[in-house]
Amino acid sequence: MVRLESELILSNLRIISIFYLIFATELCNGEFKRPPPGRMILTRHTKPGSYPQQVHISAVGTDHIRVSWITTDKHVPSIVEYGTDSGTYDVTATGEQTSYRYFSYVSGKIHHVKIGPLLPDMVYYYRCGGVGDEFSDLGQTEWTASTLHHVNQSDYDMLLLPGDLSYADTQQPLWDSFGRFVEQYSSKRPWMVTQGNHEVEASPILHDLRPFTAYNSRWLMPYQESGSTSNLYYSFDVAGAIHVIMLGSYTNFDSNSTQYKWLVSDLAKVDRTQTPWLIVLLHVPWYNTNLAHQGEGESMRKAMEDLLYKARVDVVFSGHVHAYERFTRIYNNKADQCGPVYITIGDGGNREGLALQFQKDHKSAHLSLFHEASFGHGRLKVINGSSAHWSWHRNDDSVSTVRDELWLESLSSSSACHVGSHFVAYAADYEL
Ligand SMILES: *[C@@H]1O[C@H](CO)[C@@H](O)[C@H](O)[C@H]1NC(C)=O
Ligand SMILES: *[C@@H]1O[C@H](CO)[C@@H](O)[C@H](O)[C@H]1NC(C)=O
Ligand SMILES: *[C@@H]1O[C@H](CO)[C@@H](O)[C@H](O)[C@H]1NC(C)=O
Ligand SMILES: [Fe+2]
Repeated sequence: MVRLESELILSNLRIISIFYLIFATELCNGEFKRPPPGRMILTRHTKPGSYPQQVHISAVGTDHIRVSWITTDKHVPSIVEYGTDSGTYDVTATGEQTSYRYFSYVSGKIHHVKIGPLLPDMVYYYRCGGVGDEFSDLGQTEWTASTLHHVNQSDYDMLLLPGDLSYADTQQPLWDSFGRFVEQYSSKRPWMVTQGNHEVEASPILHDLRPFTAYNSRWLMPYQESGSTSNLYYSFDVAGAIHVIMLGSYTNFDSNSTQYKWLVSDLAKVDRTQTPWLIVLLHVPWYNTNLAHQGEGESMRKAMEDLLYKARVDVVFSGHVHAYERFTRIYNNKADQCGPVYITIGDGGNREGLALQFQKDHKSAHLSLFHEASFGHGRLKVINGSSAHWSWHRNDDSVSTVRDELWLESLSSSSACHVGSHFVAYAADYEL
């Protein structure tokens, strides 16, 4: 059994045990006044074109990090120099670059460079493209900015975002502005993301403009490393004890789809005696008693719920609905001790300013244990192979207030749920 105590260091990122699930909502429940809609923070790039901007990092495997950034200058090499002493870089890694067009918009050069292997519990300093600022601290520095101010108040290792990132909604310069806005956080801790409806950006006019063009170019996630053929769904292990699966709500998910087949094979690879925690993130919630987006996740639930249930997934997190809602363990619309806990942590959307209504007479209302429409973020702290603490922090108070919390017991520790055997039998039946 894996021990996950704070002295156990398994990756370059201290112990990766706390996830932040970030979202911001504009909802009102009658008391909370949302910030003025349409308030948008635009950031400009004022430095030379060769200067790295929009730097963000993501985890690749257990001891590598992908560094991504953009330059307006097309001739900057895709290199990252790094080391464990500030200003002294003993290693140089080379990667790849891409760019894309969206109508008249042409993106800058988007660089992706994988660095590592990195030593555990070590602060690394790195510089992108041979020029510009040094970024530090893939491991230790705390976050520092105001929108995510509350997240700054305790240490954490990785940030997970269940979709709807920039709200660029086809206005490509807003992607750049978003990248610059989050850089002070996303250059310090890995950001692992999945896509929402605001990332689709398909064009009804230009049919060769594929959906998710900007998202896939800018937010390259470790899909190849997880045996997936699409950046829209992938998985990774955290601290050797948590397997995280990111699913795509806006790509095919029926039982003939490549996503479904990939999910079956990915779940079959998880050995719960080694990796006791299994969590899933997706954008559109399968269980939701809120009036907003009612029923939207139903076809995906019907297609995939069986898989997650048989694999004994511990928790399913989703976004999309601008509110917080936590359900009991569920399978097929009924409480079930071997089903996942479903948690909606609504996404960031300062434009869609409708008040939220939870439906008391919704058929799932008796399964919904807590809900509130407010700004907030969640933290999942994995203590050991069987125990984790989940808390939801409301951000609309001057101090972050814990509004909901719960101790979770991994299904891998449950003798009643026969973890492993169920899914293995299922996957064997399924032609992999
Ligand atoms: C973040 O936390 C650190 C350490 O607690 C503190 O020094 C810093 O002022 C905080 N930054 C912000 C913006 O709250
Ligand atoms: C999968 O493909 C088979 C064979 O083409 C078809 O009969 C079946 O209806 C498809 N299933 C779904 C869920 O689309
Ligand atoms: C895991 O942590 C919980 C909470 O601290 C503790 O009660 C439990 O005994 C621990 N279990 C193991 C197997 O270490
Ligand atoms: Fe959404």
